[in-house]
Amino acid sequence: MTRHFLRDDDLSPAEQAEILDLALELKRDRFAVRPLAGPQTVAVIFDKSSTRTRVSFAVGIADLGGSPLIISTANSQLGGKETASDTARVLERQVAAIVWRTYGQAGLEEMAHGTTVPVINALSDDFHPCQLLADLLTIREHRGDLAGQTLAFLGDGACNMGQSYLLAGATAGMHVRIASPAGYTPTDAVVADATAIALRTGGSVALFTDPLEAVAGVDVVITDTWVSMGKEEEKATRLGDLGRYRVDADMMALAKPGAHFMHCLPADRGYEVTADVIDGPQSIIWDEAENRLHAQKALLVWLLAHNA
Ligand code: CP
Ligand code: NVA
Repeated sequence: MTRHFLRDDDLSPAEQAEILDLALELKRDRFAVRPLAGPQTVAVIFDKSSTRTRVSFAVGIADLGGSPLIISTANSQLGGKETASDTARVLERQVAAIVWRTYGQAGLEEMAHGTTVPVINALSDDFHPCQLLADLLTIREHRGDLAGQTLAFLGDGACNMGQSYLLAGATAGMHVRIASPAGYTPTDAVVADATAIALRTGGSVALFTDPLEAVAGVDVVITDTWVSMGKEEEKATRLGDLGRYRVDADMMALAKPGAHFMHCLPADRGYEVTADVIDGPQSIIWDEAENRLHAQKALLVWLLAHNA
């Protein structure tokens, strides 16, 4: 069975920890392993815009000795004339892995089902699991062991980042709090999956509507854009609905002294977070962005080894 990485809980707690360990090693010695030397090609497909994901996969694949092939669906057959599974059948004869940023999770599942090479979710409407590997790595570097730490994610809890924090945080044995208004809560299925994982890892999952209650005493405060890609038409409503969840200095003051602030970027300063917080001393966003490179390289090395 080919191993894919479509959602955060595709990795067991031990596998997640192994990949984070490897990411730290690769961060110390960037060219230590070159499993893609040849070079083998990795296809990196984008249905949506990207800066960090595009750059970190391109650079990471090159670091591993491989050759990245960046494809925009706007000028490919995928999504127009051709299905995900037919595309997968074509690509698998020529590439070592497929990385795809898309809308629906179902497309990724179809792609993975149709192919023998690993498929990696580079962000869907439901999950952003590569970002979470980078985020967990960053928390580990700044705050030590992940298990037992408490996170609060504020704002659009139904977006890919909120849902991935539930699954990946629970897998790491963390206490994950999501604060969001009605209509912006994670799906019941994801909450149930994360709760089941947390029961095994010693973590926990809690949903709040009051952001002040959610941030009380936490180690890390996290937010994300209120207008995810694909939601642009709802912008005015979303800005109104989510205003109470803005992370500002008063909000950070309720967290643990020395708590950190994180954001996957891109950020809308003045909306989900104020400039003094995201650009202030508690913010670790630049390490978080850099860690996309190291975490994804480790993921690729691990998936290639487990599909050899
Ligand atoms: N955080 C993140 O995935 O950024 P990009 O949209 O720039 O890839
Ligand atoms: N939730 C955001 C994340 C961007 C990296 C979006 O989907 O647009």
